Amino acid sequence: MKLAVNIDHIATLREARGEIEPDPVIAAGICEFAGAEGIVCHLREDRRHINDRDVRILREVVKTKLDLEMAATDEMVKIACEVLPDLVTLVPENRKELTTEGGLNIAVMKDRLTDVIAALTDKEIFVSVFVDPEPENVDLALEIGANIIEIHTGKYANCVTEESQIKELGKIGAIAKMASELDLIVTAGHGLNYYNIFPFQNIPEIREVSIGHSIISRAVYTGMQKAVEDMVKIISKF
Ligand code: PXP
Repeated sequence: MKLAVNIDHIATLREARGEIEPDPVIAAGICEFAGAEGIVCHLREDRRHINDRDVRILREVVKTKLDLEMAATDEMVKIACEVLPDLVTLVPENRKELTTEGGLNIAVMKDRLTDVIAALTDKEIFVSVFVDPEPENVDLALEIGANIIEIHTGKYANCVTEESQIKELGKIGAIAKMASELDLIVTAGHGLNYYNIFPFQNIPEIREVSIGHSIISRAVYTGMQKAVEDMVKIISKF
């Protein structure tokens, strides 16, 4: 299994002081040295962490794969079509949320998402949709022209009993299998850490995980390189 590191919270720390450091661009380079195979950044409407300059420079320096997480708005589509990330991950965005709170409601946004994906695909950008582990999302993702589904693992990560964890993992495993049988690439992310990642070794359809908070948190103590290496060491065996 591959690791893509979400570096938003390096920018969160920078913005806490309105300074120029720490710089997510430097963090991206260290993540790549340490074995990450992708760099993820979320350009939010309110620019609370990653900003336009970061995305532009990340495009210049990221050598593995740049995944731009964004809402399906005209503003973001314009930026993506200019910057040309390797991948766009479409996520719902709610102004007051602390972090992305759930998957896309594809059924409600179907026409909009179809148009956005067509515009991005036209520029040869791969498109992933962030979805809750519900079976109907597989057909919906195919209908709107997505190449990849990223399964939202936040509910799994928040489970407090083993029973509820097993139930959530079952849902994640089922949608991963369905999607990969229909030739969608399957990834997963949100709330994953050095402890709750282990059961994912039993879901081989998930080819990559996108992890931010737990890696940046560990990096505060161990340094970015070691934090990434520690996660790569775990998941490279899956
Ligand atoms: N995937 C998506 C679509 C996200 O929105 C986020 C959070 O920005 C992540 C993965 C990473 O989540 P975490 O920071 O909890 O590892």
